Amino acid sequence: MKKIEHVGIAVSDLNQAIDVYEKLLNTDCYKTEHVESEQVKTAFFKSGENKIELLEATSPDSPIAKFLAKKGEGVHHIAFEVDDILAEMERLHNEGFVLLSESPKKGADNKMVCFLHPKNTNGVLIELCQEIKWL
Ligand code: CO
Repeated sequence: MKKIEHVGIAVSDLNQAIDVYEKLLNTDCYKTEHVESEQVKTAFFKSGENKIELLEATSPDSPIAKFLAKKGEGVHHIAFEVDDILAEMERLHNEGFVLLSESPKKGADNKMVCFLHPKNTNGVLIELCQEIKWL
């Protein structure tokens, strides 16, 4: 794992949350994106080297809708940047962690992503992400 790439925050109203985080971080949201695979709309902010991702559900079946129903708004996941997501997935699987997908999925912000089940990570949903490089 190279570094924390971003922290994901589940919100019920993305536009309202964008206003709040623009004020909080004193910077504009640099990207919004609809991620079909996760049924979410996302908004990204930079704070120095770090990023914040806000996530709003686009369907009642979205993992974010389920999270909000259970826990309400708040920190949803911590994402770690990796150089080789397939190698990390294999390493973590061999260590006994439970991967939420068998192969990486196309995530937001030009990344391939895979999530780890929070039951094995002390209650924290962990995202692995690797930048997609267009050769
Ligand atoms: Co994320």
